[in-house]
Amino acid sequence: MVKSLDKWQFGDFQTPNELAKCATRLLRKKHGISPDLVIEPTCGKGAFLRASLSEFECSKIIGFDINEKYVEKAKETLSKYPNSENVTVLTEDFFGIDWDFFLANFSGYILVIGNPPWVTSSELSILNSKNLPSKSNFQNRRGIDAITGSGNFDISEWMLLKHAEWLTKREGTIALLCKYSVARKVFRQIRKRSGNRFSASIYLIDAKAFFGASVEACFFILSTNSHTNSDCVVYKDLISDQILYLIGERDGFILKDTAKYEKWKHLLGQDMRYTWRSGIKHDCSKVMELEQVENGLFQNGMHQKYSLETDYLYPLLKSSDIGNGRINTCRKFVLVTQKTIGSDTSIIKDKALNTWQYLLEHDVLLSRRKSSIYKDKPPYSIFGVGEYSFKKWKIAISGFYKRLNFWLVKPIDNKPVMLDDTVNFLSFDTENEANFILSLLNSKPSLEFLESMIFGMKKDQ
Ligand SMILES: C[S@@+](CC[C@H](N)C(=O)[O-])C[C@H]1O[C@@H](n2cnc3c(N)ncnc32)[C@H](O)[C@@H]1O
Repeated sequence: MVKSLDKWQFGDFQTPNELAKCATRLLRKKHGISPDLVIEPTCGKGAFLRASLSEFECSKIIGFDINEKYVEKAKETLSKYPNSENVTVLTEDFFGIDWDFFLANFSGYILVIGNPPWVTSSELSILNSKNLPSKSNFQNRRGIDAITGSGNFDISEWMLLKHAEWLTKREGTIALLCKYSVARKVFRQIRKRSGNRFSASIYLIDAKAFFGASVEACFFILSTNSHTNSDCVVYKDLISDQILYLIGERDGFILKDTAKYEKWKHLLGQDMRYTWRSGIKHDCSKVMELEQVENGLFQNGMHQKYSLETDYLYPLLKSSDIGNGRINTCRKFVLVTQKTIGSDTSIIKDKALNTWQYLLEHDVLLSRRKSSIYKDKPPYSIFGVGEYSFKKWKIAISGFYKRLNFWLVKPIDNKPVMLDDTVNFLSFDTENEANFILSLLNSKPSLEFLESMIFGMKKDQ
């Protein structure tokens, strides 16, 4: 599906009426909300305005949208309601409204409802769109970073945090459809900034069915109502009462499932014999990674073939190999020029002359490596190397895949396998020890505990 430029820059996914109705009814019936004022800051064609007119018959309702045609459409449909005089719809840019001035005219309980734009600041940069909060702030990032803690952010995330500011000294509820990841980030920020001022609930929704969007989405509710639980309840959907888990903060972390975390947290600890490491870092794969081709020659990333000694060449498994369980054979070899960080590399000349000449021949590329970690280090240095790299048995997991798949990596042709710097691993002298630790890592308590801390993790089928 090709998105039109405007649909994209305005993050325009209009909410179907039945979803807006169901979400609004839930606010009244289950959350007992009865607002004096309902605000829909980006109301589009008005699904949440219509639902609010039906559910909150006596409330004052105000909707805004930047798109004049949508505002007209919303007005037209709303005029058919018997209590239509309660609703006002205006064409306005969210970022141009003086919200403090606007809100100063109202007292009582506020409900901020709706479905803010589904677009990120970096998408807007690509589109050269001005649909952003204060442009100067965005460009030098200070304002946004301060609010969201990140350079790239969802516009809805920024809006949600703004709505929460409106409720610092007023009572009310924010209830918005948004990405599940946005709700989690906002929950974390709100806890950091406002402590337990807001109670939080998340109702997962099927974004594919309602919006044709392949993203995890939810109806996110923040209320200033008094509450007993500081955790955020995550419900399976808007209709059933099924609670999936409680997101919350423990020991300085925001956790996906606080109950499971509490159950297993006695497993947390450190054993100095087993330290998770990341793999080799060399920042020059064109030179340092080679494939074995005909006649025992090795070919680098520039298709140049060399006859090299095998002393410094080790089988290499990359994140994609580990992520996909390709662990028994290797496609590539990596030049491991040091046994420990900072050790002298000139000894390669005596031990493996061809390898040394190969490195010299590619001196320009290797010396051009930008990272400051290579500064003032012996030529052709690498990082992420130590005694642990040369142990023959390893348990590895890729940092790129949303799955808790631990793999036993055994030596290939009797040589220890090296891993790239996006793989995490433990290393062992014996197969037995590695297998024992692997069985512990893959045990139910361990997986449940790890899963309780990680969002978006899919268990391997
Ligand atoms: C995801 S749609 C949802 C519309 C509506 N809330 C609903 O639930 O159907 C986002 C809406 O935000 C509007 N919008 C985007 N940027 C805006 C801005 N800066 N000010 C006001 N509205 C904006 C779009 O026109 C679009 O109607």
